[in-house]
Amino acid sequence: MKICIANDHAGYELKCQIFDYLNNHGYDITDLGCHGKESVDYTEFAYKAAKDVADKRYDFGIIICGTGLGVSMVANKVKGIRAAVCTNEFMAKMAREHNDANVVCMGARVIGLGVAKGIVDAFLETGFDGGRHKARVDNIMRVEEN
Ligand code: RB5
Repeated sequence: MKICIANDHAGYELKCQIFDYLNNHGYDITDLGCHGKESVDYTEFAYKAAKDVADKRYDFGIIICGTGLGVSMVANKVKGIRAAVCTNEFMAKMAREHNDANVVCMGARVIGLGVAKGIVDAFLETGFDGGRHKARVDNIMRVEEN
């Protein structure tokens, strides 16, 4: 499984911690930046991660900003992306089981490291349930065509 992670200045510290956590757990994870706490525009980094996931360079993306909101808005504009802002493990599990999300967004000003670890664990370890959810996800993607 190949994963990319991206962030803005507000998400930098949590990104570093989550990168180390997943790297130490054997995940193939690529850091797409930004690489410091100096103010940057989150749109650039969110777009890069989302586009790379849409282009199948990675299976999943993790994007972190202050709230998770701005980066999720950017990511969801990219064709093929289903980005979910998650603030707890349950949301992350449901984002995979019901929505087949391929990007998880988190807010470093909203959650702490412990919760963030739980979210990425749940997101990366949970599969899509398919079944009745498949038609709904297909409908989501059909909206992109119109
Ligand atoms: C940066 O100050 C902040 O606006 C950004 O990290 C994010 O929360 C936007 O949605």
